[in-house]
This record gives sequence, structure tokens and C-alpha cells, in this order.
Amino acid sequence: MSKPRVVLGVGGGIAAYKACELLRRLTESGHEVRVVPTASALRFVGAATWAALSGQPVATEVWDSVDEVPHVRIGKAADLVVVAPATADLLARAAHGLADDLLTNTLLTARCPVLFAPAMHTEMWEHPATRENVTTLRSRGAVVLEPASGRLTGADTGRGRLPEPAEIFDACRRLLARGAREPDLAGRHVVVSAGGTREPLDPVRYLGNRSSGKQGYALARTAAARGARVTLLAANTALPDPAGVDVVPVGTAVQLREALLKAATDADAVVMAAAVADFRPAVYAPAKIKKRDGQEPEPLALVRNPDILAEAAADRARPGQVVVGFAAETDDVLANGRAKLRRKGCDLLVVNEVGERRTFGAEDNEAVILGSDGSETPVPHGPKEALADAVWDLVAARLG
Ligand code: CTP
Repeated sequence: MSKPRVVLGVGGGIAAYKACELLRRLTESGHEVRVVPTASALRFVGAATWAALSGQPVATEVWDSVDEVPHVRIGKAADLVVVAPATADLLARAAHGLADDLLTNTLLTARCPVLFAPAMHTEMWEHPATRENVTTLRSRGAVVLEPASGRLTGADTGRGRLPEPAEIFDACRRLLARGAREPDLAGRHVVVSAGGTREPLDPVRYLGNRSSGKQGYALARTAAARGARVTLLAANTALPDPAGVDVVPVGTAVQLREALLKAATDADAVVMAAAVADFRPAVYAPAKIKKRDGQEPEPLALVRNPDILAEAAADRARPGQVVVGFAAETDDVLANGRAKLRRKGCDLLVVNEVGERRTFGAEDNEAVILGSDGSETPVPHGPKEALADAVWDLVAARLG
């Protein structure tokens, strides 16, 4: 078997020297690595180092070896492109599809998984421009690792350090394994709900929750990558539409129920990752509710919302349809999860622990997937894509 082909893009940051360690790990574990540094990366680590460590020629511009059309060939032949360190400038150029050197050309021609390992000063990482570029890249399916916290160049410390080479190497191996996977959901239709419902009180206020929708979007992206036709019911999310996914925006629990019942009629699997409000205000005030001097506020009357997951599980739109729920618990996580799985009647329940600083809005997640057959599949702390893939593995196994 031929060696997996990896392109190691190196951006112009001081952490470029750490990419030498990543390169060594990749070559020593049987990967063929082509290093494509940017011109500014070569100010930190010279071409001779990259050429010697990779055993391959090194170029930064599209003008070297033009007869071999390297700007197309290198990207098309790659099984994985990993960019480490990815500077703010490189993330911006990649997000905007610029192609002004060999690395950005390679990023545009690559059809394999792409991994960015950013490194920059905290202010640059936190700048809205960088945040948007990272969101754009993620929405297109690239994996952008979170930078680590710690000592940065000079005296400052904070978020922005290149993740450890061992961690980047692990992420590379996971992506290579995923890239080699059969499109095992090809020909399947899956429906995923994401985000959190909002139950309006008046034209300007609502009862809502803190779900970001990231886990549901990761489920949609990974299902599409595995060949499924995906309908994503997006409840109040602020995320860009994943490529190749049919996105249906919804607001309230009642709207989500309607959209789900419609989309599920021909679905092979339904995954309810959305956080659904259990209650809604009994009365919707058509005009803004005003405070009145000297008067206590009226108590807020609530009514129950439909339990969409329980309904989808009880009345499956087609035989063999796999129904998956999520449960966010703050305590007695597994016991509550088991009881909830029975109560909802679904096939799988993804249980995770939430709290003030856990899960909401984070890039990573950790969970146990409980099966109605008594199975328990722990998924260790990792990107939401990894948890999503673990869910689809179990769904695909049930679909046969
Ligand atoms: N869910 C749903 N409809 C609701 C409430 C929840 O479909 N009205 C789904 C969620 O999408 C999720 C699962 O049920 O997949 C569990 O959500 P959770 O809020 O943990 O369940 P509850 O039934 O609200 O349980 P609890 O007693 O903990 O409030």
C-alpha cells in the first residue's frame, strides 16, 4: 500500500520550529510529507531544514518547477493538508480563497480533509476578523484546532499558543482515518435539529436557552461527508450553513415539531440535538409588556410544549427509522440518562454533562451514548465532529 500523502503547510510564525517535530512524527509513522512553507515561514525555519526532514523538495511559490504544475498537483494528490502554525494572515487568506502563493493554491485544490493549527497573539485570535475567518473555514468542513493557552512570544501569556505537536499529530491521524472511510450513509436521508428554541413573550422578549447549535451543525456536516442527504432544522443559530446541507430555520418548539414531522416522513434517521424549551408562555402579548409604577409584575403563566423526541420515537414515520436524542444533565448523568432514554423511547441517547463552563458554545465535547439495547459507548473529550462521527457509527450500524 502506498504511504498516506500529507501536505504540511507552514505559516510565518515563531511556532514554525515546532512544525519540525510534527514533520518528524509524520514521516516516522509512515507518511509521505510534502512541506509547503510560506515565504515568511522561511524567515523562521529555512528550506534546507524542511527538505532534509521530509526528503522532498520545498517550494513556496507557484513559479518553481512550473512544468509540473505544482499548484494543482500537490493539493489534488494529498490525503490530508495540515497547516501548522496557521497565522491570522494565513487563516484570512484561506477563508477568502486567495491564491497568492503555493500553500494557498494547494488549499484551494485540495479535496481531502484540511486541518489548521493556529498560533498567534491572543488579541489577534480574539479579533472579530479572525473569529469570522475561523467560522467560515469550519463551516466549509475544515478542522480548526483551538490554540492552547500559555506563554506566547515575549513576556505575554494567554490563548494563542500552537497546540502541542503530539496533539496536532493525533488530530492528523483521526482525520486521515475519517478520510479513508466509506460513504456509509450514501443514499440515506437524515434529519438533524440544532440550536435552541425561543418562546416569545411579546414582540421583543422570549424564553430561550444557551445552546449554540455547534453540535447539531457538526452532526449535519459529518453526515453530509459520509454521503447522506441532510436536512438541518436550525433553531435560532448564528452559524453559516454547512455546505451541501438543506437548512430549514425554525423559531419555537411548535415550529420545530411541524418542520420535523414534515422532514422525517422519508428519513432513515432523526437526531434531536436541539435544546427544546419544555414550556412556553401561556399568553403571547402582541404589544410590548410595560412595567407600571407601584405595581408588582404579573406571575408568568406557562404551558407545556410538545415532547418532539418522544413523539418522533413513538410514531416513526417509516419502519426501521433510527431516532436519537440528546440529554444535557448537570448531575447523576448516567442514571438520569438511562431513565430519559426509556421515557423518550428513542434508540440512542447522547448524554453529556453541562454546567456554567461546560459544553455550551465550546468547540469540544465529551459524552456517553446510551443504546436502548443496554449498550454504553463513551466518547472521550474531543472535537464535536468526533462525537458526531461516533453517533453516525452507531446509527449506520443500526441501519445495517
Ligand atoms: N426534546 C424534545 N421536545 C421537548 C424537550 C426535549 O424533543 N419538548 C428533546 C431534545 O431535543 C433532546 C431530548 O429531548 O434530544 C432531551 O432533552 P431534555 O431537555 O434533556 O429533556 P427533557 O424531557 O426536557 O428532560 P428534563 O426532565 O431533564 O427536563
